[in-house]
Amino acid sequence: MKKILIIGIGAGDPRQVTVEAIEALNQVDVFFFLEKGAIKQEMVALRHRMLRRYVKDRPYRIVEAPSPPREHAPTDYLSSVDRLNRDKQAAFARMIDGALAEGQCGGILAWGDPALYDSTIRNVAAIAARSAQKLEYEVIPGISSVQTLAARHRITLNRIGQPITITTGRRLKEGWPDKADSIVVMLDGEETYNRFADQDIEIFWGAYLGTPDEILIAGRLKEVVDQINDLRRSAREKHGWIMDTYLMRKAGRL
Ligand SMILES: C[S@@+](CC[C@H](N)C(=O)[O-])C[C@H]1O[C@@H](n2cnc3c(N)ncnc32)[C@H](O)[C@@H]1O
Repeated sequence: MKKILIIGIGAGDPRQVTVEAIEALNQVDVFFFLEKGAIKQEMVALRHRMLRRYVKDRPYRIVEAPSPPREHAPTDYLSSVDRLNRDKQAAFARMIDGALAEGQCGGILAWGDPALYDSTIRNVAAIAARSAQKLEYEVIPGISSVQTLAARHRITLNRIGQPITITTGRRLKEGWPDKADSIVVMLDGEETYNRFADQDIEIFWGAYLGTPDEILIAGRLKEVVDQINDLRRSAREKHGWIMDTYLMRKAGRL
């Protein structure tokens, strides 16, 4: 029997690592990292710092493999994500086969919460289903970038009795989601909020949440849109990458 713990480690602030996650980190013999190249070096370094800070009870090893390449501008998005996940599963399976002995515990760290726009759970479930040996897995929840965004702006995600829609920049391009009240947008590399700048909408935007580089902007979209665009572009140029999340809703009600 081998065991894998999929551990949510929060959006970037080491203080967001929960007691449950720290206990889980201290059960792990081997951590498996898929590295995404130079662009996310800061996030990789942060993960190493978190391990040094929290793992006290036992020695551990880190096994790394390069993350399989992602297709840019694929014509069929879902098939390209499927292919990427199959490649990631193969990379994880090779690491687990090669580095985790029977009876040992492996750990995979997921930014934020592993249940939100993250394929680790799906990938590990697929590996476990195919594995000739018995592979158990558990999920430890984390504080997501969405919760961090709401806390930093001191807002609730939903208005009273209303739903929240969590979606991606790609889906938002199709228009404001039907009957949606508050929408939280993730994975938006294309500043899709600009499409709504002529409407009376409030935005609560956050980048690098939980890290020392955190940026927050809130206000009427038409009044702050240029500021968000400028800050977003200059931050992206400075760091080489950006991770941002935002909430938008029609202005006016509580
Ligand atoms: C692959 S998803 C992972 C989400 C993660 N599982 C979570 O719970 O936050 C990556 C997206 O999450 C958001 N995100 C993750 N970390 C963030 C951070 N520190 N600051 C702002 N947005 C973040 C961005 O929208 C980014 O495009």
